[in-house]
Amino acid sequence: MTICEILPNIYYVGVNDRLTRFFEGIWFIPNGISYNAYLIIDEKVTLVEGGAKAGFERELYNNISMVTSPEKIDYIVVNHSEPDHSGTLPFLLRIASNAKIVSSTMAKNILMNLYNIPADRFVTVKDGDIIELGEHKLRFFNTPGVHWPDTIMTYEERNKILFSGDAFGSYGTLDGGLFDDEVDIKFYLEEAKRYYSNIVGAYAYAVLNALKKLSGLEIRIIAPSHGPIWRREPSKIVSLYEKLSKYEAEDKVLIIYGSMYGFTRELAEYIAKKLVKEGVRVELHNAVNEHPSYALSKAWDSKIIIFGVPTYENIAFPPIYYIAYLLTIKKLKNRYYAIFGSSGWAGGGYKQIQKMLDQLGWEMVEPVIEIRGAVKKRDLEKVNELVENIKRKLI
Ligand SMILES: Cc1cc2nc3c(=O)[nH]c(=O)nc-3n(C[C@H](O)[C@H](O)[C@H](O)COP(=O)(O)O)c2cc1C
Ligand SMILES: [Fe+2]
Ligand SMILES: [Fe+2]
Repeated sequence: MTICEILPNIYYVGVNDRLTRFFEGIWFIPNGISYNAYLIIDEKVTLVEGGAKAGFERELYNNISMVTSPEKIDYIVVNHSEPDHSGTLPFLLRIASNAKIVSSTMAKNILMNLYNIPADRFVTVKDGDIIELGEHKLRFFNTPGVHWPDTIMTYEERNKILFSGDAFGSYGTLDGGLFDDEVDIKFYLEEAKRYYSNIVGAYAYAVLNALKKLSGLEIRIIAPSHGPIWRREPSKIVSLYEKLSKYEAEDKVLIIYGSMYGFTRELAEYIAKKLVKEGVRVELHNAVNEHPSYALSKAWDSKIIIFGVPTYENIAFPPIYYIAYLLTIKKLKNRYYAIFGSSGWAGGGYKQIQKMLDQLGWEMVEPVIEIRGAVKKRDLEKVNELVENIKRKLI
């Protein structure tokens, strides 16, 4: 048994990306990310997940070589065609000259466009199709939208492993431990939440459909394309996904604020103090020096989100605008919001944020607290009023 054998004849051959700072060019990953790939040794040698991001060819080749000669690969299962997993395909197809890509028809079309792969290198599968590898059998489920529209999931029947692709994945490299019972699970669950809100969240309906579809399936192990493999308690990550995809929030208030000179920040702190005094759980997010990916993650389980937004060139301070915009495209639903902010003269920048959140269907908790310059004693009456109204929403 080699180091990377995770079950008899099933090997982890994935890689850690410790260099990329922004996943998909947007999402901050201070702890990197893993591109998981799994090798099944059978009559048909099969790589599950296309491989890794371009640039990891040598390492992937080396990992596979520890188990078998990469030239012998017969099938490369691509659960979805995104280049963080498919980037090494041109290399693998050259090395394994008889290998076929197993994917959905849509993934086939995308991959042909991405890498000029000829059509005869593909075997396409439909929902419920089975491919026999010898002792192992792979069954495929159409789960469009988790994360791309071409997505399938792959189920290995013998060991009851679900190769789930991006679903149930998380940020963070795998620093030695591969399984949930070998790693700091608190860290990865937190990063799985951030990953969900950043990457998968916009497709919550697709996640719910996929969960429904898989509910009758006996799943012993969930092996996603990023982050730890869930074998001790797969239910932990499944219930997190259920909660997130249903937009279930905790009785918690998130204050997202941005501030140029500290005036809006000071008001944020008064509001936070008053809320905590009244027994409300509060989280703060500084939009200026924390990455928006964390704001999305915190918003995903907060019932009420308060935006602290100064007026800037007659509009909302851009870092707050950006977060509100991201929440809009990620389609976070069923939330209350409130707004406060400082301005110098005409003010009104907050109206842009209000418009966006109204369009998202969020309900406003009044009053809007717009102050001129610094927070004054009289403004605190409005803070009290807002906090009272917030408390009513939390009951
Ligand atoms: C670059 C810049 C642009 C601003 N544009 C406006 C504006 O269009 N309308 C306005 O009422 N105040 C404007 N202000 C004033 C700020 O909104 C005001 O100073 C506010 O108190 C800043 O709060 P903060 O320290 O929380 O950022 C601007 C300030 C700066 C620095
Ligand atoms: Fe993806
Ligand atoms: Fe991915």
